[in-house]
Amino acid sequence: MCGIVGYVGQRSASEVVLGGLARLEYRGYDSAGIAIVVPGNSLVSHKKAGKLSVLRDELEANPLAQGTTGIGHTRWATHGPPTDANAHPHLADGGKLALIHNGIIENFDELKSELQAQGEQFHSDTDSEVAAVMLGRAFHETQDLTLAMRAVVARLEGAFTLLGVHQDQPDVVVGARRNSPLVVGLGQGENFLGSDVAAFVAYTDKAMALGQDQIVTITPDSVTITTFEGDPATAAQFDIDWDASAADKGGWSSFMAKEISEEPEAVANTLRGRISPEGTVTLPDLDSLLDQGGEITRIIFIACGTAAYAAMLGAYAIEKWSGIATTVELSHEFRYRDPAVGPTTLVVSVSQSGETMDTLMAVRYAAEKGAKTLSICNTQGATIPRESDAVLYTHAGPEVAVASTKAFLSQVIAAYLLGLYLGQHNGHISAADSALLAKDFDALPGQLQEMVETGGRIKELAGWMADTRSVLYLGRHVGYPVALEGALKLKELAYIHAEGFAAGELKHGPIALIEPGQIVFVIVPSPRDPSSLHAKVVSNIQEIRARGARVIALAEKGDAAVLPHADEVIALPFASVFMEPLLAVVPLHIFGMELAAAKGLDIDQPRNLAKSVTVE
Ligand code: AGP
Repeated sequence: MCGIVGYVGQRSASEVVLGGLARLEYRGYDSAGIAIVVPGNSLVSHKKAGKLSVLRDELEANPLAQGTTGIGHTRWATHGPPTDANAHPHLADGGKLALIHNGIIENFDELKSELQAQGEQFHSDTDSEVAAVMLGRAFHETQDLTLAMRAVVARLEGAFTLLGVHQDQPDVVVGARRNSPLVVGLGQGENFLGSDVAAFVAYTDKAMALGQDQIVTITPDSVTITTFEGDPATAAQFDIDWDASAADKGGWSSFMAKEISEEPEAVANTLRGRISPEGTVTLPDLDSLLDQGGEITRIIFIACGTAAYAAMLGAYAIEKWSGIATTVELSHEFRYRDPAVGPTTLVVSVSQSGETMDTLMAVRYAAEKGAKTLSICNTQGATIPRESDAVLYTHAGPEVAVASTKAFLSQVIAAYLLGLYLGQHNGHISAADSALLAKDFDALPGQLQEMVETGGRIKELAGWMADTRSVLYLGRHVGYPVALEGALKLKELAYIHAEGFAAGELKHGPIALIEPGQIVFVIVPSPRDPSSLHAKVVSNIQEIRARGARVIALAEKGDAAVLPHADEVIALPFASVFMEPLLAVVPLHIFGMELAAAKGLDIDQPRNLAKSVTVE
């Protein structure tokens, strides 16, 4: 979950590396550090606990010597607390070599003992420093950074992306990856390495994603890729479809505020080119997957956190539109329970980053069991889509804030498109119903914009709730995943205990939580929906009101049945069953953000979290 940047070329390496780290800081911000190879064969480095701004301030006061080769790192602590000593880069070979690392080296204990027995001294609690000392020793033997890296990775187990530089080999950065992301930025007379393309999007839109167990050596004019054994290897090149400004705040108070404002566009972009006005869905990647033969008798979504709630909405729609049995599992549970998975199972991973280790390992497990794998992902060239049989990219653009918002909506849309596609392929959904859904999708971005504009009222609500210690969220059917998502946002942003319930579950225990003043958000189905869900939810509201709850209802405009029983109603535009959840979730995203703001908390980088959880 760390941010990694490497550079070699003609520019100031400090400038390129620090700029890249700023764009990667959402991956982890416990500490930051940089190392520069200075002409005349010396290496300078500085690292500091705390956010990148702390390092920048120190470098302002004491600038590093300039050089055109460098590496940098922002850390999410795994081994060892966030201290200056545990920050990366780690130095070795008498300070001539610097290494940075993302991941977990699972056999570092035994390696460290081996090295200590040979007299090596360590200055940190980290697994990463072990790799640095090993690289320094190997370089001493080989006098070649690539050969040295090859010797080191042959001994390591676990997940790692490593970058190394050595003062005796200026103009060279060597990287290696296993189970952790590394992408190459291709420039003219310069080349880049990064955890994701945000590291170098300001300088190039040409990139390559390194594959599993590969080593890359970059110089200003060359990029050489080999396997860990040294055999020549290749990596897929791709064009980056967003620019640096997209990754900047653009005047918004936070990335999260910017990204909520982009929710309508994210949905429109994810739909674009994939559904005709008549409702026919075109997904070329799925065509080739289905052409491989073998029917799909079962779909299992695997995901974590917000992505899992998006998957839940997708599962409801896919069963409705395609009739294919569909379930949702948390990635970290799926792979440890011996699921009945086989060639007729389609395992669909949902991941904004495409690097969530829990989900990546679950995808690998599913593939080993012979399942077809499809990735719904927002990050081009990420590991999960590259290791899946097919990919359905969401086009939400870069999502920097740790709390996922626009990516969530685009994940739901992608899952809906999958359900429609499958239903059209097996004839389960009629052309008429497809056409009606096409109209719903067409209206959705405009309706979402309406919800984005409710921000002012939500901010007021958050203002008078700033001291609350607990908030509950209730929903039924497609409102249930919305309740879970709303609760997660409050937990991760405002650090408040919040819980989402299936409203029907209330009487089976949770109603005991209701006491006078308890704040409860309720997602209310449309009164126009023929099912009895609306009536049931209204009676749930009455049950909790009778016990003193303060109810904020998210209900369709003009829903007269709700008005007498709610303390506050957030009106939703008229929408069909599967579109309503996307509209209801927007005020809940805004509420989480505004409550965090009211409490003076860091909205984009909440405590203890990182944008991409690349460790299990
Ligand atoms: C969502 O706001 C959280 N940041 C978290 O639950 C996130 O959705 C989860 O870690 C999955 O991340 P992914 O989509 O990158 O796999």
